[in-house]
Amino acid sequence: KIIILDFGSQTTQLIGRRVRELNTYCEIVPYNKFPHGDESVIGVILSGSPFSVYDEKAFRTDLSSIWGRLPILGICYGAQFIAYTNGGKVEPAGSREYGRARLEYVDESDQLLRGIRPGSQVWMSHGDTITGISDKFEIIASTADVPVAAYRSKEEKVWGVQFHPEVYHSECGTQLLSNFVKGICGSKCDWNAASFIESTVAALKEQLGDDKVVLGLSGGVDSSVAAVLLNKAIGKNLTCIFVDHGMLRKDEFSDVMRDYEGLGLNVIGVDASAKFFKELAGVTDPEKKRKIIGKGFIDVFDEEAHKLTDVKWLGQGTIYPDCIESLSITGTTIKSHHNVGGLPEKMNLRLCEPLRLLFKDEVRAVGRQLGMPEHLISRHPFPGPGLAVRILGDITPEKVAVLQEADAIFIQGLRDHGLYDSVWQAGVILLPVQSVGVMGDERTYERAVALRAVTSTDAMTADWARLPYDFLAEVSNKIINKVKGVNRVTYDISSKPPSTIEWE
Ligand code: XMP
Repeated sequence: KIIILDFGSQTTQLIGRRVRELNTYCEIVPYNKFPHGDESVIGVILSGSPFSVYDEKAFRTDLSSIWGRLPILGICYGAQFIAYTNGGKVEPAGSREYGRARLEYVDESDQLLRGIRPGSQVWMSHGDTITGISDKFEIIASTADVPVAAYRSKEEKVWGVQFHPEVYHSECGTQLLSNFVKGICGSKCDWNAASFIESTVAALKEQLGDDKVVLGLSGGVDSSVAAVLLNKAIGKNLTCIFVDHGMLRKDEFSDVMRDYEGLGLNVIGVDASAKFFKELAGVTDPEKKRKIIGKGFIDVFDEEAHKLTDVKWLGQGTIYPDCIESLSITGTTIKSHHNVGGLPEKMNLRLCEPLRLLFKDEVRAVGRQLGMPEHLISRHPFPGPGLAVRILGDITPEKVAVLQEADAIFIQGLRDHGLYDSVWQAGVILLPVQSVGVMGDERTYERAVALRAVTSTDAMTADWARLPYDFLAEVSNKIINKVKGVNRVTYDISSKPPSTIEWE
């Protein structure tokens, strides 16, 4: 495996994904937590960082135990850190260097740069620049503004690159990372969905033996793939519970139950909507709504699970981005996301998380390899509290029904026009606003809704989707004509940041 030392850059996860795309297993660990003693490590990558190497509070680490023993690649801050701590010089760049640049000089005989030609576009994003390197190193690439765009050690297998090969705008990025991972570190490149399934199923059999496992299904990709994988390993010893909190999309509960049964899963569906509507009555504060639903979900799940006997494990669809130990540089919680956190403590069960090593796109690849239907695999993400966070203000069954109808029209429209897969996520928001309209000769005074559709790769940042006007017009007409109680449709054109994807 490759170890990626995280110095806090926003692109660290992307480095991980790119290495995985090279069919090579990798792990991201905080900069000071290298797994000493792990014999399976074949190479190390140092990420970028929001700090300057000469900052008082910059993240520093001691590389002496890996230096010369394992190949090392420093990216951006990683490159500056290696240069700086080995007698080089790093200074603020005249102006912040950000965006596209072209490599002017490239030492094509270098192992890292093999196959990369002068003129190749690279992506720069740095406030500092390496202005001098010790004579232990030599320059292997330059751009017009950055003389030390890449360097290597003359003696050891150590490289540094000032640009970001993990970013898609760096044309030679894949080649460079492949040269490092395959050529220099000698990865066999045999990590893929099929091999993951084979080794995970074997490991689950070993870990679980004849133990029983209970797992909460949400209808989403992660919990569904986790369930199918566990089902493959332990069959009838897996019981799944799917709780309907009443705020799912139109027909979602019955559709998804049918899918699950088709997959051979042993699923208990629980309609707990009455309980949730009662507890949510009159509550308007978004965080309170989330807490009520989170706690209610745990209570219902716990009650159902207690009807089963001898359960020892709780299965969960936790994926890698949820597990990467965060360096918490800013450390503020924007929204408390509803997860099934809290369950294991309450139920005194051991946790089984078969997807905790996978990125989202890998989870999808595993699902496809397992033969799951495409509409389950390529579904948009949907928040745990469901439509509750898309109804601004208090929640009533009547409002949920209105929103379900409008949402179904929008989503079906996206599918019919072949637009569904081009957006990351879409939905309708029910606004706490009434407006005047005219229908026939009648004056109406009814609700307004907002359509929301975004493009994104990880939900951390998102842009509003540029959906065709004609399509928006068609959806607007349909909603106003068919959904009783709605007489106005708006389109949300805010990106994240500064807005968020959901309105609450
Ligand atoms: P925001 O609104 O924070 O959403 O930009 C980012 C992603 O997270 C989803 N989301 C949630 N998911 N429980 C969840 O499981 C929640 O409480 C929650 N709130 C937001 C949102 O749909 C988007 O995909």
